[in-house]
Formats: sequence, structure tokens, C-alpha cells
Amino acid sequence: MRKKIVAGNWKMNMDYNEGLTLFSEMIDLVKSEITGAQQAVVCSPFIHLHSLAQAATASDKVSIGAQNAHQAEVGAYTGEISAKMIKSVGAEYVILGHSERRQYFGETNELLAKKTDTVLKNSLIPIFCIGETLQEREANTHFDVIKAQLVEGVFHLEADAFAKLVIAYEPVWAIGTGVTASAEQAQEIHEFIRKEIATKYSQAVADEITILYGGSCNPKNAPELFAKADIDGGLIGGASLKARDFVDILKVFN
Ligand code: G3P
Repeated sequence: MRKKIVAGNWKMNMDYNEGLTLFSEMIDLVKSEITGAQQAVVCSPFIHLHSLAQAATASDKVSIGAQNAHQAEVGAYTGEISAKMIKSVGAEYVILGHSERRQYFGETNELLAKKTDTVLKNSLIPIFCIGETLQEREANTHFDVIKAQLVEGVFHLEADAFAKLVIAYEPVWAIGTGVTASAEQAQEIHEFIRKEIATKYSQAVADEITILYGGSCNPKNAPELFAKADIDGGLIGGASLKARDFVDILKVFN
């Protein structure tokens, strides 16, 4: 059985106190309402990580993640945060390759391959994001784009390292737009990703890897999306900023 995960990506939202309040509301709801084996992962800004990791000890269903990490282990990189630092405050996951990082901060597949290595080396789990833009979908190149993101970003890993990853498919045209990929569109890509993994590694590795959908996912559309054979949960932006909505999405796996 693949692990079912609902991860919240707070992006650059929530000051310190707002974040603590949101998290405490969320953890109370998780404790009283989540009955299955699903995992919640809250990916907050760096400033919250330590406090949230402490608060998350109240529930084994909630883990904490960062939204980025530097590719170097340590050094003179003013303003950056290392994977070791993230690990040291009790976080377990790191989002890598989010389309906003690719678009606004010039992150390439080559750079993301290095970040993936560093994150894994520090015993953190990468949530590796891939997905096409609207132009790429309209030009019918989306399968090629996604394949290249996998090949250049993570297929250099040995099978045992690759098996530790979580993959998130986030079509860029669906992020923050209110336009969700249909469950069929999302399933088509998830199936493609799993087949590529089976070809590169093995069917066993492909069968075990958790693949999340992200892009305007909310409590209304989550049941249909998560019912698809290859969709193992979601990476949630806007709806993760409301405890009620986030836990309602998580409850789909109850
Ligand atoms: O990483 C999550 C994300 O990019 C989706 O954001 O606001 O469309 O759920 P949103």
C-alpha cells in the first residue's frame, strides 16, 4: 500500500504568530477527525519550522517540511538555509522544484538534481515538483517536459535513494488559478509518471512511490482526484491556509 499524503505549501504567507495559530487549529482537527493512516505534511516558511516541529510531536499524523533548501552543505551563501539546518529543527520533508522556484528564481533541472542529492544526504524527504506550463500543454509537449524534469532532476539517483522521494505533479496553469486539472487529466499524467519510473527503475519501485497532485485542489474536488488509481494525495496551496479546508482534504483518506 502506497503512503497517502496531503501536504500543505504555505508559500510566503503567515507571519510567525499567524502560522502558530493556524497550525494549532489544524492539529486539533487532525487529532479529533483523522482516523486513517494518511500523513499530513505542513511546509511552512523557515521561520516557523522549529516551533511547528515541536507542536507536531502531539500527533504522529503530522510532519513538517520546508519549501526549499540550498544545494551546498555549508558555506558563505548569505541568506540561504541548508538541508542540515532544516533537519536540525525537526523537519522531515523539503519541497524542491516548485514551479514558482523554477520561474522566479531560475531553478533548473540541473540545479534541482544537486538539491535533491543534498536533501537526501541529510535524511530529509524531497517532495519533488514537476509540471508543464499552459503553453507547453497547448503545444502538446507536456509529456516531454515532464519526462525531462524526471530524467534531468531525479533519474540520476540509485533505486534505493529514488524510492525515498515523493513526486508532486503540479500543472503550472492550475496553480492558484482556480482552474483544476480534471481528475482524468491528472490521472493521465500520474500514470505516465509511474510508467516512466517503472521503465527506469522497476515496477516495484513505481508501485511504491507516492505521487501527489497540486493545483487548485480543495475539499470539493479532492475526493474525485484522490479516487484515481495513481493519485496518492495532494500538494495544497491556498486551501492549506485554512485549517478546516486542509483537514477536510486530509479526511478524504479516512
Ligand atoms: O504547491 C502547491 C501549489 O502550488 C498549488 O497551489 O493555491 O493552486 O492550491 P494552489
